[in-house]
Amino acid sequence: MASTLRLKGKVAIITGGASGIGEATTRLFASQGAIVIITDIQDSLGISVANSISPTGQCTYLHCDVHDELQVAAAVDQTIQTHSRLDIMFSNAGILEPLTSILDLNMSDLDNLLSIHMRGMATAIKHAGRAMVAEGIRGSIICTARVAAAMAGFTPVAYTIAKHGVLGLVKAVAGELGEKGVRVNCVSPFGVATSLSCGIEMMTSELVEKLTCEAAVLKEAVLRAADIAAAALFLACCCFLKFLFLEDSRAISHLVRSNEAEQQRRC
Ligand SMILES: NC(=O)c1ccc[n+]([C@@H]2O[C@H](COP(=O)([O-])OP(=O)(O)OC[C@H]3O[C@@H](n4cnc5c(N)ncnc54)[C@H](O)[C@@H]3O)[C@@H](O)[C@H]2O)c1
Repeated sequence: MASTLRLKGKVAIITGGASGIGEATTRLFASQGAIVIITDIQDSLGISVANSISPTGQCTYLHCDVHDELQVAAAVDQTIQTHSRLDIMFSNAGILEPLTSILDLNMSDLDNLLSIHMRGMATAIKHAGRAMVAEGIRGSIICTARVAAAMAGFTPVAYTIAKHGVLGLVKAVAGELGEKGVRVNCVSPFGVATSLSCGIEMMTSELVEKLTCEAAVLKEAVLRAADIAAAALFLACCCFLKFLFLEDSRAISHLVRSNEAEQQRRC
């Protein structure tokens, strides 16, 4: 009988995979048969997530700070050496700070944020794209943007700049890599209760979810990390259903999955 696991035989790297959206995606991808390499800077957390999945889920952890191109390149190289392929790069690592207004913005803090989101994601796309093209793999690269990639006013100024940059990056590279059969997309979630959003003073998961629900167009549907993981799975996957071979997102590139109704209402 054909496997119903949608990522069977696929190898995925998930940056920022130790926590939040990355962790949820790691668990979902592993449950769908993928070999998952978590990369993060929270070593003990990353190892513990990987150990909670392995051996059945075949998940491992690698320390990789996305600030450092050499570490990103080494993570991709090690993945190819160990598994002989890379099918999916989920470039997701991120931070929220600095939270200040433009008037108080410390430029070193801005540099740090841009270096993780824009430079880090460009580096991940560069090295994953090179590996996929070299191995002739029609892979999928997915970045985590945010609704703030297209709208201002919901998040701090530096974060809004960074996520606009991520959207520009995805638009810029989707055409080039698309010519080589590699798809590049991003997910653009609204607010999700994770360490990132709950790290703001006085914030709790309940409060993040309450504020997000109040601001959202779609009511009585609390957005969770697992929902973003499901969107990433859609963009990542190929699947067998009975005797029908389906590649859910086979022809989709340069897609920004987001709460479009939310954007239309506010633009
Ligand atoms: N939580 C939200 O409301 C929300 C909404 C939309 C988009 N996002 C985006 O989702 C992504 C994941 O965030 P999350 O909400 O799951 O937060 P999170 O804090 O739970 O996860 C982020 C992960 O990235 C890792 N990370 C941070 N800096 C890193 C670095 N230099 N190198 C490698 N890893 C690093 C962290 O250690 C952490 O494990 C981020 O890009 C964030 O901007 C979050």
